Parts: sequence; C-alpha cells; structure tokens
Amino acid sequence: TERTLVLIKPDGVARRHVGEILSRIERKGLNIVALELRTATEEVAGAHYAEHEGKPFYPGLIEFITGSPLVAAVLEGPRAIAAFRQLAGGTDPVEKAVPGSIRGDLGLDAGENLVHGSDSVESAEREIALWFPELASV
Ligand code: GTP
Ligand code: MG
Repeated sequence: TERTLVLIKPDGVARRHVGEILSRIERKGLNIVALELRTATEEVAGAHYAEHEGKPFYPGLIEFITGSPLVAAVLEGPRAIAAFRQLAGGTDPVEKAVPGSIRGDLGLDAGENLVHGSDSVESAEREIALWFPELASV
C-alpha cells in the first residue's frame, strides 16, 4: 500500500467541485486518511512548489495557491500515487488531460487545473511531511 498527497486547489474549492472530486477518489477505491480545508501560507506553498522556482509561471502559481482556501488530503491504497495521477489527468486540461479525468472533464487552464497529486514515492513522503507533519513516517 502507498500514500499520496493530494490538493484540491483553490479553483476547485471556489468552483464547488470538492464533493465531485472526493466522490471520484472514493469511487476509485482510495482511502482518505487525512483531509483539511486550509489556506496555504507562502512558506508551505513555496516549499511545495520549490522545483518550479524561477519558472515564468511560478509567481502566479504561488499567488494562486495561497490566494484562497484549498483542500489538502492524504490518500492511501495500492499504487495510490499513480492511481490519483490517472484520476487527475495530464497537467494541461485541454492538451494533455483526457475526458473522464478530473482535469479533462472540469478544467480549461494549465495553471488553475483543479488538483495536485504527488508524482513519486519521494515526492509523496516530502509533501506529506510538509502538509501533515503529524502523519510523516520518518
Ligand atoms: P501538480 O500535481 O500540481 O504538481 O501538477 P503536475 O504534476 O501535473 O504538473 P507540474 O508539477 O509540472 O506543475 C505544477 C503546477 O504548476 C501545475 O499543476 C500547474 O498548476 C502549474 N504549471 C505547470 N506548468 C505550467 C504552465 O506552463 N503554465 C502555467 N500557467 N502553470 C503551469
Ligand atoms: Mg507536479
């Protein structure tokens, strides 16, 4: 079994898709082991997206992620990391995400693309420790 860190980004909350997205997660068979509505601080957002620092979209990304409440969650299940990435669809909701995925069905914008999911075991451990330190395994 595996854990992954998921965010329902501020656009997903503002557009009232929290129930829709959690429903898809539950239908897939993943367990929710942590779930909280919160507003991300600059510190947490900057650490979360540290790999993108310096890219042209980075300032707007931090402004977006910290600008209004998001839902942070930890999901658990067999191959949970890949399973949620499949549910989410590709980064660009029009060019990459297929219909049937969260981004493919609900999104238009490459930046405001509804959800985040950890992309590897290492990222998941780092991100779970960042958002839910009380759950960190090491
Ligand atoms: P996350 O799950 O949010 O990490 O998305 P991802 O893994 O599909 O994409 P990636 O890690 O490459 O990028 C992180 C986030 O930065 C994306 O989800 C977008 O919100 C934003 N982003 C990435 N590329 C672009 C871009 O070309 N333009 C804009 N505006 N935003 C981008
Ligand atoms: Mg990513």
